[in-house]
Amino acid sequence: MPSHAIDAVAEKVSKKITPTKSEADSEKAFAAGVSAALSKNLPKQCRMCFVGSAARDTGLRGGNDIDLFVSFPRSFSKEEIVAKTFKATRRALKAKWEKHYAEHPYLQAQHGAFRVEVIPCFETSPHEELKSAVDRSPLHMDYLQKRLTETQRRDVRVLKQFLKNAGLYGAELRVQGFSGLVCEYLVLNYRSFRNLVEAAAQWIPPVVVDMEGYYAERRHPFAEPLVVIDAIDKNRNAAAVVSETNLCKFIALCRAFRSKPSVSFFFGKRRKHSASEISRALRSRGTAIVILKIAAPKLVEDILYPQLHKTERALSRHLALQDFRMLGTASFMAEDGAFFVVECESAERPRLKRVQGPPVSAAKAVADFVRAHKAAHRGPYIEGGRVFAERLRAVTFLETEIGALLRSPESWGAASHFVKPLKKAKFAPPLSLKAEAMQGLAAYLFRRESWW
Ligand code: CTP
Ligand code: MG
Repeated sequence: MPSHAIDAVAEKVSKKITPTKSEADSEKAFAAGVSAALSKNLPKQCRMCFVGSAARDTGLRGGNDIDLFVSFPRSFSKEEIVAKTFKATRRALKAKWEKHYAEHPYLQAQHGAFRVEVIPCFETSPHEELKSAVDRSPLHMDYLQKRLTETQRRDVRVLKQFLKNAGLYGAELRVQGFSGLVCEYLVLNYRSFRNLVEAAAQWIPPVVVDMEGYYAERRHPFAEPLVVIDAIDKNRNAAAVVSETNLCKFIALCRAFRSKPSVSFFFGKRRKHSASEISRALRSRGTAIVILKIAAPKLVEDILYPQLHKTERALSRHLALQDFRMLGTASFMAEDGAFFVVECESAERPRLKRVQGPPVSAAKAVADFVRAHKAAHRGPYIEGGRVFAERLRAVTFLETEIGALLRSPESWGAASHFVKPLKKAKFAPPLSLKAEAMQGLAAYLFRRESWW
């Protein structure tokens, strides 16, 4: 095994992605300055915490996001901590502060090169019941800051770049990948990037990483494919959003990288596909592809993407139930709206539908079935132990069926915010798509894991 080769690659990669000393220093100086100014305007019992990757030297070059937490004693109310933090922040640093909403509101601003977030939270001890969802971050900071060695911090950065290049980095629901925190936990648990890669290459889901050994013999309560028990909160799976697909991609990626370590796993370029390549691919597949375009619902990403994907799955399931032979579907956001791609083996489904009825032994059900199928095209007849009937369908074309579905999106399970826009959906000819949408279609047509 060329284990040493992995280390050599990691070192090379690290040189390109580690923030420069001046970048890291100025982040810390900036954070310290803002923290000090904030403290002056806050109750004495508050503690300022600079957290996240910039504080721990585990971020990538050019990351520049500064996460500042204001930790309040638990005696305060949510309204109080938000009001006090907002007032102090606006006084401490003049910037275009924008109010964002998570479980409770926080502030964000771009200040020069830095993207600053100031987030109020409650003081918490490990495993204690949380007062708000963000209360863990200062504890993560304490835990990781004590344990990560210099080399491990480098390995976290390398791991992030490795994942990022494969589209697997980030806990946003658009990505459903590995968060920064999960990267830090994985490197700590396996002690190095190299060990992690070698172990992950042999993972068989479900995978459990319980670094602190909180649960004996897998007796944990989590059902997700990747379980990384949060070291400061054993009731949380820090990797809960990692989808089965993304976990399996990571395993296969580690296998490929281990057998042939190379810098190309970190900086692969995604090639753009031309319109003529796309039209050639469409022709050579010889399938029926329908593209639907709708106005983008105005939603935050973490609601938009789950709804987009839910709608895609519902559409696919419904068409399959209607006997269209599905090859695949895709959905994506582009410059001029949201898009769904539906691909079937053919544009037409069989005109004749054979309906299976109840077993002959169920007298009442048989009588009902026979009554319901009086006007059958053929039947009702008995074959084996059951009754069958055949009927002809009015609609046999995919586009017609989809057109009918668009009239009542709620009836087949489209997500709530997509119902209205779907009613005004347009069929978009593939070659009429704008640049981003075209690449969205290309991602579907030329789907292939980059490491194979
Ligand atoms: N956090 C978390 N779970 C997430 C996202 C964030 O627990 N899914 C907490 C962690 O304590 C994390 C902090 O919020 O350290 C800051 O989050 P974020 O900026 O998203 O991640 P970083 O760890 O800073 O990584 P990156 O390099 O991507 O900024
Ligand atoms: Mg961060």
